[in-house]
Amino acid sequence: MSDTQVFETGSAGPAARSDAEATTLRVAAKRPRADGVVELELVPPAGRRLRDWAPGAHIDLQLPNGMTRQYSLCGDRWDPHRYRVAVLREPDGRGGSAAVHDELAVGDEIGVGGPRNNFPLVPSEQYLFVAGGIGITPLLPMVVQADLLDADWRLLYGGRSRSSMAFLDELAGYGDRVVVAPQDETGLLDLPGFLGRPRPGVRVYACGPAPLLAATEAACADWPEHTLRTERFVAAEPAAPARRTPFEIELARTGVTVQVTPERTVLDAVAEAGVDVLSSCRRGVCGTCETEVLAGEPDHRDALLTDHERQAGDCMFICVSRSRSDRLVLDL
Ligand code: FES
Repeated sequence: MSDTQVFETGSAGPAARSDAEATTLRVAAKRPRADGVVELELVPPAGRRLRDWAPGAHIDLQLPNGMTRQYSLCGDRWDPHRYRVAVLREPDGRGGSAAVHDELAVGDEIGVGGPRNNFPLVPSEQYLFVAGGIGITPLLPMVVQADLLDADWRLLYGGRSRSSMAFLDELAGYGDRVVVAPQDETGLLDLPGFLGRPRPGVRVYACGPAPLLAATEAACADWPEHTLRTERFVAAEPAAPARRTPFEIELARTGVTVQVTPERTVLDAVAEAGVDVLSSCRRGVCGTCETEVLAGEPDHRDALLTDHERQAGDCMFICVSRSRSDRLVLDL
């Protein structure tokens, strides 16, 4: 069974608002790490320390072309003076990765929001990590942490070819805990063989393209609940909204009520009422716009909450989520 704790690597459109928590960092290094993959090192102004982060965290990059994109931190979490991200050039993308590859240069300053973590590593006796391509980025710090904690862990890392797979050099020191499986050498990943029989006490973390995550979910279907946690590069296609009629939002802190019509988001409706909620991806994948729900029944349309969290109904991501009830009361 899966906890789909997901966010998108590279998600927002040009209209994304800047994050008020954003800080300006300098590109200290930019170097190729694999075919189509560049690594960026981002450093703060002299004398400053960066915010702490834990494995699974991501940052928002405010790119020169005006887009905001999310990238997993994949460097040393104990180094307070630099963040590292790795970016795959996506020829069919909407320009975020191309801006990183083609426009961003060493010495440039860039707005950075976060870090935030929607994919945390939870304590476990055993970890099985499954990475596909650039999906290695959030898992690399997890591997480091699991190893530091002396946990029982293994990583299955697939990619099109060895030359397309970043960080193989850093993983080489872990010996046979890491199974490197380029598709042009070994074919599709042998997930059942890697995972073994369903058993308790194991956490499976997977990140990669949608077909790999679907295959991992299928392979974990008979495992205990909450075994699998996944992180996606793109949000899964949400189902149709639960209602196609307007609903009301009451802003509890001011008592103001706004109407949300089918063509508007809750985020836009509350902004028009003068309440600015931070947002970044506007696609329900980054977690920035999380808002507490005090009453009413949200129609969750994000890619972040687990089934359990959805049922609790006490928070929602207002860039995409809507309402099932006629009225929602939000802590705004
Ligand atoms: S702005 Fe990213 S989840 Fe709402």
